Amino acid sequence: MRNLSGTITVAALLIAITVATMTSAAAQKKQSPDLSGSRSILVEQGYSEDAIKCIECHSEKTPGIVEGWKLSKMALAAVSCYDCHVVQKSSPMKSQCEGLKGTNIYTSPMVSPKTCEKCHPTEVEQFSKSGHAYLASKPVIESEGMHKLMFYYEGGEFMGNTPGSPMTGTTHSAGCGLCHGSKIKLLEDNMPDPSTWPGGVGVRYPDGGIGNCTVCHTRHNFSIAEARKPEACASCHLGPDHPDIEIYLSSKHGQQFLTHGEDWEWESAPDAWEPGDYTAPTCATCHMSGIGELATTHNINERLQWDLMHKRSVIRSGERGDGEKGKILMDKVCSNCHSSLHTKSVRVDVDNAVALYNSYYDKAIVMKDDLKAKGLLKDDPWSDGFQELFYYMWHHTGRRARHGAAMFGPDYTHWHGFFQVFQVYKDMEEIYNWRIENNKIEEMGTVMSTGPI
Ligand code: HEC
Ligand code: HEC
Ligand code: HEC
Ligand code: HEC
Ligand code: HEC
Ligand code: HEC
Ligand code: HEC
Ligand code: HEC
Repeated sequence: MRNLSGTITVAALLIAITVATMTSAAAQKKQSPDLSGSRSILVEQGYSEDAIKCIECHSEKTPGIVEGWKLSKMALAAVSCYDCHVVQKSSPMKSQCEGLKGTNIYTSPMVSPKTCEKCHPTEVEQFSKSGHAYLASKPVIESEGMHKLMFYYEGGEFMGNTPGSPMTGTTHSAGCGLCHGSKIKLLEDNMPDPSTWPGGVGVRYPDGGIGNCTVCHTRHNFSIAEARKPEACASCHLGPDHPDIEIYLSSKHGQQFLTHGEDWEWESAPDAWEPGDYTAPTCATCHMSGIGELATTHNINERLQWDLMHKRSVIRSGERGDGEKGKILMDKVCSNCHSSLHTKSVRVDVDNAVALYNSYYDKAIVMKDDLKAKGLLKDDPWSDGFQELFYYMWHHTGRRARHGAAMFGPDYTHWHGFFQVFQVYKDMEEIYNWRIENNKIEEMGTVMSTGPI
């Protein structure tokens, strides 16, 4: 929707003045890059000589990156390659790109939130407190149980693949880590070890920065319009264990987005994106954006009441946020478009769905504890039908039921949710009764692992 030629000259002239005081690069002599041959952005001033060299050479060597960056608001503000990729000589991530060998300029392909923080301290602070930063990479970096799952089981070490061989790390580097984030290891030349970079939302950088802003603001456009669309969340929030995009698209809100979204105004300034620009909320509207009296937040935990991801749902507290406050804030989102009567009646449904799911869980855990006490659980949970089903019950079917109820996707609450929760539960009950009656574990696995997902 932006008019790319007309507005840009003016914006660059105005904003360049502000940015000049923010960056050392911009404080140097101002010139404009020679971009003849590629689409002109008509920036007349704002870049240092060194910054221009990056842009000019890279418009030949990596034109896609330069084209993407040129479309960004930051290009208009004269924030360039230099501001994000040049590092101090003392940086643990320092290297020199091919075009800079022999100069005294050091670069890094890795850009952590510590760099963004220089100009966006509020966003980085909120993001850092959220489940998208440290907590997101915690299970895949720090948990022994998850390491066994990723490398021993999914990486095939259990069937003889050499422990530690690159093949056994694939599910981490190309799977879990691309959503959750990895801990970047450096090679001798300070380049990132390919098995650890690039990474997901909670990446841990060698300079101490945690998190990856590009998961929602794809580089090098870094657009807020993009982050406001549900697609920005869909690469991670999907699938059998957290089908949030599927739930959203099949909800009434998604119906509005799919049928009218093309006409919505996506480019409004931060904190000025309000009903009228759109007729129904996206993921960002409910979880992040400023709306009515609420300001934008990069802490996605702030507006949540329940913890719907772990085995048993509880009201959020501690590192997961403040559930009582979260409910009040989320209700304020709805109040922009619905009556309090409507919001209350929806809330009752969510609370009841959580209570129903928890009641299945509480009965299942009693059976599991009893089997454990009587020595009737196998050490290897993945060749024990009862334990496999237990996992599907909370992690797949039970999560779907809870997320479906919270975000109004009735097919996920019911057919992919509670309908399957009850079936899995009944199978568990049958295995439990058999083991107690016979005082032994059945010889063959009773569960087809792909069955109940
Ligand atoms: C606002 C900050 C910012 C600006 C401006 C910027 N980059 Fe980046 N760049 C990033 C981030 C963030 C990443 C992803 C880094 C990561 O995953 O650790 C990245 C990644 C890269 C990569 C490595 C990934 C790949 O796809 O090869 C290259 C090369 C790169 N940028 C070049 C450039 C060039 C050239 C420019 C100038 C035209 C530029 N960048 C401008 C922030 C920036
Ligand atoms: C004379 C050409 C030239 C100049 C000037 C130049 N680069 Fe590069 N740069 C390259 C080439 C070539 C590559 C390698 C691309 C590839 O791997 O395909 C590269 C790679 C990179 C990478 C990816 C990581 C790496 O080291 O391979 C980053 C980040 C980067 N350049 C940033 C910059 C920045 C920032 C500047 C300005 C301070 C700059 N470049 C100036 C040519 C140049
Ligand atoms: C040197 C300062 C500087 C750095 C470093 C910087 N930014 Fe920015 N950024 C700006 C300025 C100035 C604007 C405002 C541009 C405007 O509104 O026209 C901006 C705007 C943005 C926007 C809003 C774009 C829109 O569509 O309105 C996003 C998103 C963003 N930056 C993300 C990042 C990320 C992510 C990083 C780190 C990888 C980063 N920025 C690093 C200065 C910076
Ligand atoms: C989970 C997705 C997501 C991630 C991750 C994310 N952002 Fe954003 N960001 C958004 C959304 C959505 C908006 C637009 C909010 C609105 O509607 O005004 C936004 C807006 C912004 C803006 C515009 C000003 C504002 O606060 O509204 C800046 C600057 C920004 N983000 C920087 C960052 C930085 C820096 C990071 C990494 C530390 C980051 N973002 C990570 C989704 C994200
Ligand atoms: C690159 C993957 C990725 C993207 C993109 C992403 N998320 Fe997430 N999100 C995650 C992961 C991983 C978690 C689980 C964090 C944890 O382990 O605690 C999560 C958790 C959450 C949570 C629960 C908070 C908690 O306690 O951790 C919410 C709400 C959420 N995301 C909303 C969003 C929204 C809204 C967007 C898009 C604007 C989005 N996410 C984009 C990966 C992503
Ligand atoms: C109409 C507002 C709304 C929209 C739109 C929306 N959500 Fe939600 N979301 C909620 C509510 C309400 C909850 C449950 C809050 C609570 O805990 O009481 C929730 C819960 C979640 C959770 C669960 C956190 C946990 O504890 O497991 C995630 C993840 C999430 N949403 C992501 C998304 C994503 C991704 C999208 C878009 C595809 C989206 N949401 C769209 C309102 C919304
Ligand atoms: C497609 C992206 C994606 C992949 C791949 C993925 N996850 Fe997740 N994971 C998520 C999201 C999104 C959530 C948040 C679910 C919710 O809110 O209910 C999550 C939640 C979790 C949680 C619960 C939150 C917490 O921090 O305690 C754990 C543990 C977890 N994932 C571990 C893993 C492991 C281990 C792998 C690989 C074996 C993996 N995940 C693969 C996206 C992913
Ligand atoms: C930007 C406006 C907007 C916001 C904010 C919003 N909704 Fe909606 N909602 C709509 C529209 C429009 C519909 C479709 C109404 C219809 O079916 O005619 C809808 C439909 C619904 C429905 C389907 C049932 C029905 O009334 O048709 C539910 C449930 C719902 N919203 C709950 C919520 C909750 C809970 C929140 C806050 C977490 C929320 N909405 C926030 C606009 C909004």
